[in-house]
Amino acid sequence: MNYQRTIIFLFILFSSFITFSQVKVDGITCELLDNPVGIETRHPRLGWKLESDQRNVLQTAFQILVASSPDKLNEDAADFWNSGKVASGKSQLIAYEGDPLKSADNCYWKVKVWTSKGESDWSETAKWSMGLLYYKDWRARWIGFDRSFPWDDDSFYSRLSARYFRKEFELNKDVQEAKAYIIGLGLYELSLNGEKVGESVLAPTPTDYHQNIMYNIYDLTKELKKGQNALGVVVGNGRYYTMRQHYKGYKIKNFGFPKLLFQLEIKYTDGTTEFILSNNSWKGTADGPVRSNNEYDGEEYDARKELRGWNAPGFDDGDWLEPEYVEQPDGKYEAQLNPNMKILKKIKPVSIREQSPDKYILDLGQNIAGWLQLKVNGAEGDTITMRFGEIQQEDGELFTTNLRDAQATAKYILKGEGTETWEPRFVYFGFRYVEITGWPGKPTVDDFVGKVVSDDMAIQGTFTTSNQLINQIYKNAHWGILSNYKGMPVDCPQRNERQPWLGDRTVGCYGENFLFDNAALYRKWIDDIAYSQKSDGAISDVAPAYWRYYSDNMSWCGTFLMVADMLYQHTGDTEPIVKHYAAMKKWLNYMEDRYLEGGIMTKDSYGDWCEPPATIEEGRGKSADQKYPSQQISTAYYYHYIELMQQFAKLSGNETDIPEYQQQAAVVKDAFQQTFYKADQKGYGENKLTENLLAVAMGLVPENKKDELMQTIVKTIEVTNSGHLSTGVIGTQWIMRTLTQNGYADLAWKLATNTTYPSWGYMVEQGATTIWELWNGNTAAPKMNSYNHVMMLGDLLIWFYEDLAGIKSSEKQVGFKQIVMKPELVDGLDFVNASYESPYGIIASNWTRTKNKFEWSISVPANTTALISIPARSLKDVREGNEMIDGSSDAKTTWMEDERVFLEVGSGSYKFSSKLE
Ligand code: BGC
Repeated sequence: MNYQRTIIFLFILFSSFITFSQVKVDGITCELLDNPVGIETRHPRLGWKLESDQRNVLQTAFQILVASSPDKLNEDAADFWNSGKVASGKSQLIAYEGDPLKSADNCYWKVKVWTSKGESDWSETAKWSMGLLYYKDWRARWIGFDRSFPWDDDSFYSRLSARYFRKEFELNKDVQEAKAYIIGLGLYELSLNGEKVGESVLAPTPTDYHQNIMYNIYDLTKELKKGQNALGVVVGNGRYYTMRQHYKGYKIKNFGFPKLLFQLEIKYTDGTTEFILSNNSWKGTADGPVRSNNEYDGEEYDARKELRGWNAPGFDDGDWLEPEYVEQPDGKYEAQLNPNMKILKKIKPVSIREQSPDKYILDLGQNIAGWLQLKVNGAEGDTITMRFGEIQQEDGELFTTNLRDAQATAKYILKGEGTETWEPRFVYFGFRYVEITGWPGKPTVDDFVGKVVSDDMAIQGTFTTSNQLINQIYKNAHWGILSNYKGMPVDCPQRNERQPWLGDRTVGCYGENFLFDNAALYRKWIDDIAYSQKSDGAISDVAPAYWRYYSDNMSWCGTFLMVADMLYQHTGDTEPIVKHYAAMKKWLNYMEDRYLEGGIMTKDSYGDWCEPPATIEEGRGKSADQKYPSQQISTAYYYHYIELMQQFAKLSGNETDIPEYQQQAAVVKDAFQQTFYKADQKGYGENKLTENLLAVAMGLVPENKKDELMQTIVKTIEVTNSGHLSTGVIGTQWIMRTLTQNGYADLAWKLATNTTYPSWGYMVEQGATTIWELWNGNTAAPKMNSYNHVMMLGDLLIWFYEDLAGIKSSEKQVGFKQIVMKPELVDGLDFVNASYESPYGIIASNWTRTKNKFEWSISVPANTTALISIPARSLKDVREGNEMIDGSSDAKTTWMEDERVFLEVGSGSYKFSSKLE
């Protein structure tokens, strides 16, 4: 029946939560956004989003059909799975429970739902396909050249040319389906008949190749043609042939020379199948135009060496080599579910100026991670050199000292044939400025395009306020996060580091999720962290563990638990918790066995890393890499983790562990109080801001001492610090929420809007377009001083969304199934417009505040409810539209507390207003 279509306008969005597939269906046309190819789990989890312009839409039941072909599905012949009508409000993470799926199976599915407002039609069809489930499914052989060539150099600043592989083949029959499976290590670029396949760059996603290796799948059904076809693959170094050779082998992992595994399965309409496999029937060369590619040092391209037509049919590869069968990597093969990187934005430079004869400085106007494309006319052999940096020196020269020994240079040698366009393909740079030498003639800004390279993930949050500084900080945060998503969250994109440090994301991962759909990335990263675990239980400080740093600490390594918690809180996904519970427990046991003494976790590594020096001058010229380990920090984090483990034990069916964690928590809480509390100073330890904040944030301070402690905290900020924070990475993770939740939102606002040192606003005042590694980034020594780090964001982004916008998931019904909307009105903030694409759909919160009036428009997605909190003097002062809320049928429960009206609403759009005076 059409009841729902006319009455509730039901739109359904599907997404398989193990992938990033989405099919949008509006009941009339079907817009295919993406479909996941290559899933290895036997129980893919399916989900959909309901949209409606009606209020109070709750799903009451669903039915899923999965079939092996679209035709079967059209006839409702669900040969894989018919869930039957399931009475359930669940529209997310529903596990496939049908017939066992086989390698490369294609699965077509649709759903219908029953809601409180009626029943939907069947949705349009969505699709997923299975990856290669068994090792034996791989028929191809690893090929490569396990050696360097005369023009290569495998010394410290290694130079290794890219390897080119090609294969021609003929097709005579009609193709029904063709899928290519590829692992090109470290990085590959695949082409078919002269065209690059797909839009990914720097693929596949990086892993610890000793542990696991990701393969990508491409559907080439439409691209193959009858007659002669040619496949071409260029393979670059990435992290496989690591940036520094013969260097600190005990610390830095190297994996070997680049290599390729490729398999194309072609199914013909006559029912036969053919495979094109990497083997010694391919041809290869390392003597192409990419002469060197090295993530730290850059790429060199000699256009004179171009292999014209090499990836198209008919190329004469007579002088190419037969590839070698090379040793296969140790790691197990996994279908990649997190997105590859892509060119996400193109930027036109803002200026270019001549610094000295033949030396130009180009300014992109924005610090980014990515590269520069150039367009040039010149003579054969002209050589253009581009050096990349984040800032300029006072005399206008490029500043590169903070890159340490990363050369960050791109070199292009012209072939001299008219207009030549080039961009690197196996490296990226962290930069705003580029020094250009060797340009034939005089370059202009029109000759360049800045390309922003990051993981291909959707932006899922918007946030604007009446305060321009806050807006700029938010923008800088956005750029900072974007710059540091590289198939893993790295610390920085520019210097000779670029490592996925755990401690930089402990709390940051929650905030980032408000901006970007990063769930697939973090699901991948939590696996990286688990893979870093040693047999004794130790977890690395960096994962994938390219650097073997096992310094044994709580605050960095415990990010393992925090990421699992973020995924649970924000997406409702318990799988990472279930999957890694045993590993988390093992890690905690490892730390307890070695370092727990009478309830105190005695081992820490980094302390409150990068605490700001008391004055900007004090830090001038000094390196910030001193470590001040703190038992108080490690014990507070340890306590937080054993609290989390109680929840995780419940969610993962390990309830029998709970009593022990509870007892342990009591012991730790007591020991913490006994050891660190100083009654005379009404605070903990040395009475530092971070020490006291942690005691409140982790729930370690006894209730009867909490107010007093908050006053100590406030005094430190207001008096000792003249209205500033004094926290490093650790304290900053909790500061904004702790102040706000304890009645000091205005003080948090003060910190957020400061423009003097140390503050985020100070960075903006100094011209930052991203977030700095150090509060004193403009005066500290360059040794450890990146201008594009995100760790100092702490809990600021969480605070923007949860407390200023009022968009927060309830802890009782996670994944935004129930939303807590409680915006804080702080003096000086007149409006906030924010939205967040939750697993159920868009949550919107737009409020304005004048002296005596608060107006608030909200959207609560279908199949969710919200707990709303409106500032008001009394119930009588609140309206929804023109109606008083008292007695309104859409507001289920209404009560007053602390000059706020609380009510529960169902899905839909609402316009609230209240009198403030
Ligand atoms: C990194 C940081 C990291 C830290 C830990 C630094 O070099 O850039 O982000 O967390 O080391 O020691």
